[in-house]
Amino acid sequence: MITRIAQISDTHLSPTKSFFRSNFDLVAEHLRRAGHDHVINTGDLALDGADSEADLAEARAAHEALGLECHLLPGNHDVGDHLDVARRQPVNAERLERYRRIIGSDIWSLDIPGWRLLGLNALTLGLDLDDGRQDDLIRNASASLAGRSLAVFLHKPLADTAYDEALSSNRFMTHGPRQHLMALLGGAQPALICCGHVHQYRDSLIGGSRHLWAPAASFMISDPWQPGYGAKMVGYLAHEFHADGRHRHDVIGVRGLVHHDLVSFPEAYGDVTAWGPGNA
Ligand SMILES: [Fe+2]
Ligand SMILES: [Fe+2]
Repeated sequence: MITRIAQISDTHLSPTKSFFRSNFDLVAEHLRRAGHDHVINTGDLALDGADSEADLAEARAAHEALGLECHLLPGNHDVGDHLDVARRQPVNAERLERYRRIIGSDIWSLDIPGWRLLGLNALTLGLDLDDGRQDDLIRNASASLAGRSLAVFLHKPLADTAYDEALSSNRFMTHGPRQHLMALLGGAQPALICCGHVHQYRDSLIGGSRHLWAPAASFMISDPWQPGYGAKMVGYLAHEFHADGRHRHDVIGVRGLVHHDLVSFPEAYGDVTAWGPGNA
């Protein structure tokens, strides 16, 4: 028994700044033909959902139009960034309320044969913004696995190279929230931790878990404006979850996708080159 799940990420949709919509439409057409059982989007659904209700509504409508079972997660451009690193749009109650009203829950748990998939809000981990709902979900889901393998999905990579690293960058989860998550997981060791956010594909082992970064469906960011951590590309991941706990994935490139470079779209988030090398 195999469950096939497509992980798309970083779609950055907007009705007024629709630069990346044609890539989404190509991925959507590919997904409809590919026969996946579920689709997960690991966040940055919208271009500026943190401040634009219309951008979130566009993202919702685009996913509904897929006609597939979608499980969505928030990114920093949907609910604002984590307070540890937020530069201009901090996550707050108003932004979370807007996301939940338009998109739906920002956390979820999904059981498939042999596996439990846990979808988390990376932007609120370790913050007291949801009356402990996320903490309770993580604690309960990891304490009742009953032999299932655990896969965690969230927007940001948990770490670059090690869980004890002290990096304070908005590119990765920071030390405090990461330790908070580890404590809530207790003895449950995720077999897989899947994210988006960096707009690069990477496959690495950290802390005994396999960490998979999905490429964005929208754009990449060229050198030297963003460091290379993995492969700079656009596309999506196709996961196969086997009932006996095995897992494999393929990196899917879709014919016709344009490898947009954010540097060419200053109307999206400003002039990336003005931030300096390595800062996009
Ligand atoms: Fe993104
Ligand atoms: Fe992001």
